[in-house]
Amino acid sequence: MTTAQVRQPKRLADYQAPIFSITHTDLVFELDATATRVTATLTFKRQQPGRLLLEGQQLKLERVRLNDRVLTAAEFAQTAESLEIFAPGDTGVLEIVTLLNPEQNTALEGLYLAEGVYCTQCEAEGFRRITYYPDRPDVLAVFTTTIIANRNELPFLLSNGNKVRESRLPDGRTEVVWHDPYPKPSYLFALVAGDFDHLHDTYVTSTGREVLLEFFVQKGALARSHFAMAALKRAMRWDEQRFGLAYDLDRYMVVAVDFFNMGAMENKGLNVFNSKFVLADDTSATDTDYFNIESIIGHEYFHNWTGNRVTCRDWFQLSLKEGLTVFRDQEFSADMGSPTLNRIDAVKVIRTAQFAEDASPMAHPIRPEQVLEMNNFYTVTVYDKGAEVIRMLQTLLGKAGFNAGLACYLQRHDGQAVTCDDFVQAMQDATGYDLQAFRRWYSQSGTPELSVKEQFDAATGKLTLTLAQQTPATADQQEKLPLVIPVKIELLFHDGSAAQQHLLILDSSVQQFQFDNLPQAPLVVWLEDFSAPVKLSTDYDVEQLLAIASRASNGFARWDAMQQFWHKIIKDAVQQSALPVLPEALLTAFRQWLITPLADLALTAELLTLPDFDTLAAHYAPIPVDALLNILQETTQLLSKALLPELLGCYQQLTTPAYHYSEADVGLRALKNRCLHYLAFTAEGAKRVTAHYQAANNMTDILAALHAAQHANIAQAGELMADFAKRNEANVHVMDKYFNVVAANPRDSVFDALEKLTAHPVFSWKNPNRVRAVYGAFSQRNAPQFHRKDGKGYALLAEVVTKVDAINPQLAARLITPLLSWQRYDDGRQQQLIMLLRELASLPMLSDDLYEKVHKSLP
Ligand code: TRP
Ligand code: ZN
Repeated sequence: MTTAQVRQPKRLADYQAPIFSITHTDLVFELDATATRVTATLTFKRQQPGRLLLEGQQLKLERVRLNDRVLTAAEFAQTAESLEIFAPGDTGVLEIVTLLNPEQNTALEGLYLAEGVYCTQCEAEGFRRITYYPDRPDVLAVFTTTIIANRNELPFLLSNGNKVRESRLPDGRTEVVWHDPYPKPSYLFALVAGDFDHLHDTYVTSTGREVLLEFFVQKGALARSHFAMAALKRAMRWDEQRFGLAYDLDRYMVVAVDFFNMGAMENKGLNVFNSKFVLADDTSATDTDYFNIESIIGHEYFHNWTGNRVTCRDWFQLSLKEGLTVFRDQEFSADMGSPTLNRIDAVKVIRTAQFAEDASPMAHPIRPEQVLEMNNFYTVTVYDKGAEVIRMLQTLLGKAGFNAGLACYLQRHDGQAVTCDDFVQAMQDATGYDLQAFRRWYSQSGTPELSVKEQFDAATGKLTLTLAQQTPATADQQEKLPLVIPVKIELLFHDGSAAQQHLLILDSSVQQFQFDNLPQAPLVVWLEDFSAPVKLSTDYDVEQLLAIASRASNGFARWDAMQQFWHKIIKDAVQQSALPVLPEALLTAFRQWLITPLADLALTAELLTLPDFDTLAAHYAPIPVDALLNILQETTQLLSKALLPELLGCYQQLTTPAYHYSEADVGLRALKNRCLHYLAFTAEGAKRVTAHYQAANNMTDILAALHAAQHANIAQAGELMADFAKRNEANVHVMDKYFNVVAANPRDSVFDALEKLTAHPVFSWKNPNRVRAVYGAFSQRNAPQFHRKDGKGYALLAEVVTKVDAINPQLAARLITPLLSWQRYDDGRQQQLIMLLRELASLPMLSDDLYEKVHKSLP
């Protein structure tokens, strides 16, 4: 927490190279719950004239020594956030002793103690809570870490790199020394000490290195870590095969903890994971859990090259490592499972959360230009839109060109801290493709809008396509310029002629493309595979969209046509304040998919799913909240009624064997549970849902039953939920799922239910997983109650955010997101939201995290 006048954002334009480098960082930790002593010995070297200024926060400074002489108070200056050494000379060794209180660290940044485990989290700027340091990613040092602790209490003492020594001290404590030979920035430092179950295995890399793989998980959870271990080995193999990248140390460790702010962290040689993204077995994990574990294990592993070996010059370049690494993990997941489903999921994230962020007061380019609290910029824009920008590069350069560019980038910059420009330059140099204009994707925020026109001359068979692009102003940026937009299209012909695929590269405001000698007027599938993160509107009628959905060879295109179909139908209904008219052609298509599902059952399930509230909302300003919710609910009911026999037939035809996480079985469960969801709204819904719950042999089916019960409001819902909670009290991750379902209850009773949850023995305000399971779910998956007209939903979230800010600002700032975009709603909701934001702004002890978001959003 800082006072108002210090709250000046940092700007990319003000970047200055470091004045001092640190070549070696030696750390000694004497662990203690309330008074951990850290002795940091820094070998420094001047790079240019200027001051030796180190960052530090919430530290108790015990002593500063410069080259064997303890400094007097007159030889350095301390502020709440810094330490300046007045006469350091050009080279030297600085020894700094600080005291920390890990037990009281509820922010989970720096060194914290939770559930008996000491754990660090340093990205982005947490290392400054451990010692005074030039805590910026372009200062790379070789780290040696000594951990001193009582071995009986803390049998495992871990840090980055290789273990070099372990000895017993005269006082009975143990000392373990770790050395990481790869120079790294402070944000990649990690230390973990605790008692764990330990799973180990070996992996031989393509370069012949034998690597020890180790997982450290809570006692009793060993059996739940095998899937993650296998996923790690798949990721290591995949990176060798796809990009020629092999692991570079003899040891790779993964620690799972339940107290964690995000998903996982790629610390060199010692990843720390949120335990929900490691632990899984067939009785407690859903198909989605298994998917997420493999994807995040891959993500953190892939950072070893894209993030660790080559890192960011400054935090404005975050997408350099995150956009690229998300792209890599998406490619990995696509190769391990279904490319179509992976693409659908990635596109859903962009169309819901990322488009919403562009429309919010927090709008920013994938390379932001000013930042107050860096933690606020780990966003869907930097991560997921960043990954889309990398994907566009691959589309433009081709896979081979892209691979060559990545190889050039890694070779050229190994061991360096670089910029997004350096990355694009390497792509350009390796391929000879001029990417000058493409770079605008890094500096311009907002969602481009494309409009398209088709003209066909039947006499000559000539098709003329006219594309126009325009990007609306965003909160951070008024002027927008044209971007380079790769638009993949497919031309479909009724007469059975072979479909044609083309890549159009739109690089100005308006452009025409021509195709000759076509057999007849084609049906154009626009933006195939979502080849650019844009909004594209066509004036296709519903028959044409259903034709694409039924006939296109590309699964993604079929799904996308259904999305456009629903958008169109629902928009008309909103305009006419009526219920949607479901064309007979739609029912025919749905019946067809239910009676004879496609070979890809998961895709069939997606084709049968309505877009969710957030996806639809992205198309409106202001958002017609009540109309959309009502239409979604009523449409589900209409479909249930109209398709009852087919739904039942499909449901009964799909019999699940013993649980197995495989692409085929995942698809089967997805389709069966989609049918169940519709069936829940019919007269015999209660019977079906209860039977489904009772027969289920896996978590995916159980949760599908609970959600269906909740949404369709069946009489037994409460009973099933109580049964579920009772059976699973011992597993916090399953309890989180229970909390999710309770919080998604779309009826008024949710408020009492939430209140009760916070009194549940498993709930803790200090545990981000629990808080998110309750209030994250409420604000993001319960539109009817969260967006209540009377503001009760908004007020509850504001109250929670206020409370959490005092405990964990990073968590509070993530939770507040849905309150920021008041401009997107009607007058009544706007007033409720603005009032709450004003109240938040007036709090005396607001964190930087909340301050930045609240102040950006206030009118
Ligand atoms: N670098 C991490 C990743 O993407 C994410 C991360 C950033 C993080 N800050 C964090 C994780 C704080 C945990 C806590 O993989
Ligand atoms: Zn990452």
